[in-house]
Amino acid sequence: MIRHVGYCGAIIVCGAMLLACAPRNVSFSADVQPILKQRCMECHVPGAPGYIASSFDVSSYETLMKGGKYGALVIPGDPLTSTLNMLVEGRANPSIHMPHGREKLSDREIETLRVWVQEGAKNN
Ligand code: HEC
Repeated sequence: MIRHVGYCGAIIVCGAMLLACAPRNVSFSADVQPILKQRCMECHVPGAPGYIASSFDVSSYETLMKGGKYGALVIPGDPLTSTLNMLVEGRANPSIHMPHGREKLSDREIETLRVWVQEGAKNN
């Protein structure tokens, strides 16, 4: 019985830590842009291969929200259906995960992008 209580306690503590560690109030300029700059801009600016293939330019908030040749890739408030989140999370076909042919984003970076979209994909 004591073991059992200890186990539940551990779950509660872990749950609280996860909540405390998850990013909240994500800022576009302070949190999101540095990730795009480091991991996406190599290919997603005019003239680079990702842009040539998809017309998706991540160099400003406006172009990011405009999306690619098939339209919006970020749906404010809806990371589940946002193509950008699908691709960085590897939820789409693995051959088109992003960054293309590069190491996956860290869990923290993925979560930052997810929470930013969830919170409305604001230019904050
Ligand atoms: C090494 C180059 C490269 C990097 C780095 C890269 N991409 Fe891409 N990206 C591509 C290419 C090439 C395509 C087109 C893929 C295709 O159509 O098969 C693409 C397509 C996309 C698309 C789909 C566009 C559409 O209209 O369907 C999204 C979204 C995307 N990238 C997001 C990102 C994000 C976010 C990052 C950074 C985390 C990133 N990419 C990093 C090369 C890259």
